[in-house]
Amino acid sequence: MQKKWWHGKTAYQIYPKSFLDTNGDGIGDLRGIISKLDYLKDLGVDIVWLSPIYVSPLADQGYDIADYYNIDPRFGTMEDMDELLSEAKKRDMYILMDLVVNHCSDEHEWFKKACEDPDGPYGKFFYIKDIVDGKYPCNWRSYFGGPVWEPLPGHPDKCYLHVFHKKQPDLNWENPALREEVYKMINWWLDKGLAGFRIDAIINIKKALPFRDYPADRDDGLSDIGKMLHEAKGVGEFLGEMRDRCFKPHDAFTVGEVFNEKAEELPDFIGDNGYFSTMFDFAETVFGGSQAGWHEASGCSPDDYRNCVFGTQKKIGDIGYISNIIENHDEPRGVSRYIPEGEATVTAKKLLATVYFNVKGLPWIYQGQEIGMENIPVSSIDEVDDISSIDNYKVALEAGVAPETALHFVEMYGRDNARTPFQWTSGENAGFTTGTPWLRVNPNKSEINLADEQADPDSLFNYYKKLIALRKSPEYAETLVYGGFEPYLADVPRVMAYFREGADKRLLILANYQKEARELPLPEGERKAVLSNLPEVGFTESGVFLEGYQAVILEI
Ligand code: GLC
Repeated sequence: MQKKWWHGKTAYQIYPKSFLDTNGDGIGDLRGIISKLDYLKDLGVDIVWLSPIYVSPLADQGYDIADYYNIDPRFGTMEDMDELLSEAKKRDMYILMDLVVNHCSDEHEWFKKACEDPDGPYGKFFYIKDIVDGKYPCNWRSYFGGPVWEPLPGHPDKCYLHVFHKKQPDLNWENPALREEVYKMINWWLDKGLAGFRIDAIINIKKALPFRDYPADRDDGLSDIGKMLHEAKGVGEFLGEMRDRCFKPHDAFTVGEVFNEKAEELPDFIGDNGYFSTMFDFAETVFGGSQAGWHEASGCSPDDYRNCVFGTQKKIGDIGYISNIIENHDEPRGVSRYIPEGEATVTAKKLLATVYFNVKGLPWIYQGQEIGMENIPVSSIDEVDDISSIDNYKVALEAGVAPETALHFVEMYGRDNARTPFQWTSGENAGFTTGTPWLRVNPNKSEINLADEQADPDSLFNYYKKLIALRKSPEYAETLVYGGFEPYLADVPRVMAYFREGADKRLLILANYQKEARELPLPEGERKAVLSNLPEVGFTESGVFLEGYQAVILEI
């Protein structure tokens, strides 16, 4: 693997709508982000990914783009964006935007023109088909529920494809004219000084054609789209072209949202000449999921979590550099998911931070993770914004699940969990807005907020700062960034431990992933505590005594 400028960096995801509102409309904005660049710099962040801020009806919170060349006025102006780019540059920080090109919005002018003239050039930007004998071309289920087909406005005999929401018509990547438009847009942004992109839902751009039915997997007679994606061949041709036409000439940094990749394809995706610089590890986020819906999901225990992370490390080896997360805007809060219910103390949160941050790869922090933000309680489906939660709730009820239980699954897996406003202070609206927040603030803002944590040297926030500083320190950077990964005590329940072996140092990350204290063995030789989430490290003759949820980094 070739070394790259970004390997030793720390990356951070901002969900602009919920970060910081500066004009009192209840929606976060670019000026809010600009005003917090120093905060991010102080934390140790170098690379910042912004979830979409383009013009959008926000049917899927901006992942439905109506104009790729303009900023939605709710988020600010192009001048604000230019200022953000230049202010980031002054601080040696890199801004990424979200590249959403599997689909656009049904309010994009391409789609409007396609509706006016389905047989014209813009009709070919989409998948538009005839409805024959009242039947759609195939029985795939969209990610947000219901068929992937919707009648084309103004043409009751035709339909268009949308693998996500019906307001997100899929773009037809088989059409070279569409691809040209996409590349032109990407290059326009990169020429402006953007460092790169996070690449949304990208595996979906290749469809298995011609359209055909797959065996139904629910009573709705539809089939999960994964079966089609598994059969679709040739996404690499599009991705390679995009890399060569856009990313390579700009030396752009890209991180792919890639699910379902096949092991043998990894070098193509993130090898030295990969389609992307890196991609996210989703092994633990998809673990325990069910095609039947959230109500059939089995959850992810500490041992499952460890096994998923270790599995990815083994799979990637030296092929490329993976991106590690515990949460993002589509997932529940990591501390609510990977720490058993009722046990998410500050110590346990520090443990989770320690074990995910130091495996090989680029560590990402999702906004609010650094202060330990948690899932939000839900008392009624009416207070939920997330379209996938609303669909999963409906699916659960249809499967006979009791409403309170169905709501509990929304609490566990819903996307609102990550999207509640950032908790800056314990004050009104957690300091996020002076207006009415677009999404309710987590009632735990008095216990979990940045202002208090900044003032407390033992806070999770200050611990994250230490983790970031350690990974950048001249002493340990080489080992933590490039050192080999070797599991330790991998079959001992409720332990997550591994070595990172660098050119001249060997570190052991050792975590007692349970509330009971215990002694764990250490390899023979000298040992030095480099970091611990608790004040004392109790070395014994043959090992170390760890308190419940204690995690340590030892030099061995
Ligand atoms: C990605 C995004 C998600 C969005 C979907 C459709 O998975 O992360 O938020 O709903 O793509 O664009």
